[in-house]
Amino acid sequence: MSKVYNFSAGPSVFPKSVLETAQQELLDWQGSGMSVMEMSHRGKHFSIIAEALESDLRSLMAVPDNYKVLFLQGGASAQFSFIPQNILKGKTKACYVNTGAWSEKAINDAKTYCEVMVSASSENTHFTSIPEESTWLIDEQAAYLHFTSNETIHGVEFSKCPDGKGLPLVADMSSNILSRKIDVNQYGLIYAGTQKNMGPAGVTVVIVRDDLIGHGVSKTLPAVFDYAEQAQHQSMLNTPATYNWYLVGLILKWLKAQGGVEVIERLNIAKAEKLYQAIDRSSLYSNPVDPICRSRMNVPFILADQALDKQFLTLAEANGLFQLKGHRSFGGMRASIYNAMPESGVQALIDFMTEFERTH
Ligand SMILES: Cc1ncc(COP(=O)(O)O)c(C=O)c1O
Repeated sequence: MSKVYNFSAGPSVFPKSVLETAQQELLDWQGSGMSVMEMSHRGKHFSIIAEALESDLRSLMAVPDNYKVLFLQGGASAQFSFIPQNILKGKTKACYVNTGAWSEKAINDAKTYCEVMVSASSENTHFTSIPEESTWLIDEQAAYLHFTSNETIHGVEFSKCPDGKGLPLVADMSSNILSRKIDVNQYGLIYAGTQKNMGPAGVTVVIVRDDLIGHGVSKTLPAVFDYAEQAQHQSMLNTPATYNWYLVGLILKWLKAQGGVEVIERLNIAKAEKLYQAIDRSSLYSNPVDPICRSRMNVPFILADQALDKQFLTLAEANGLFQLKGHRSFGGMRASIYNAMPESGVQALIDFMTEFERTH
């Protein structure tokens, strides 16, 4: 079987051992005589999978007891609308930091439900930086402060949790959840689609502090996206994406076996440093992002001569390096190096880039 290094931004690479476990268990999950796909979500077998899923995520992220952990559908994009509909708590305004394409989408969707105050924006640097926190404008009457902890397209990542100045912090962690240690206590709400660091597409994790929910929701909100309702029903108010829950659960078990978030964070730092160093010492490749907020997960780079892009991609594929084309809004290349990308994949990419530069 041929196996390539897959640098896709999402859906993205899985650990091989997880795919093998899923394959082994496909027809008969642990002697149940059934595939997980066939199980009732209310049955005793699936209950074991669902309980382990939540408890493993709680332990990996050290989620305190006063937070609910929800597994929903609709992707992170749906949360752009569901967040204001759930947690405005009668307020009419929310603050948003704009650091790139995903922040912009969150801002645009929130505008339907509340007044949006853009507290800070790095649009003037073409989203290659994060505005200095001391310059952020925060309205203390706002319900929350939203930011995107890792901008998947622009390759910009917060290196620490910002100060909400009294507002509950809401973070879109779709592309860096479980890649670095965080203190959940610093957040009001964390959300993430699973298709980058946590498994396949189709599940959205929402971790929300108890005091933010249960204070009334927008009349337009379907019950299946009411956080308090879903929390009361263990995210099973409707039929959950059962097989995807199972796969996310396998990824969490894999991460625990690696030593947890602290261990994977050290590997992520090493992988990212290696790749950025290779880019910085080359005269063909460059990354425009301010070094203090370069993403450890998504590394965009451009070639000095764009006429070489096509050849770079074709040769990369011939060398087993896939999905390196940059986002259409950014151009150039992007290497997504999530938790499951082995260091050997990053080294193979660097070796290829070095050889391509030497021969072009
Ligand atoms: C940071 C970020 N937020 C939100 C999304 C949207 O996620 P979904 O496609 O699951 O709605 C993405 C998708 O790539 C993302 O990278």
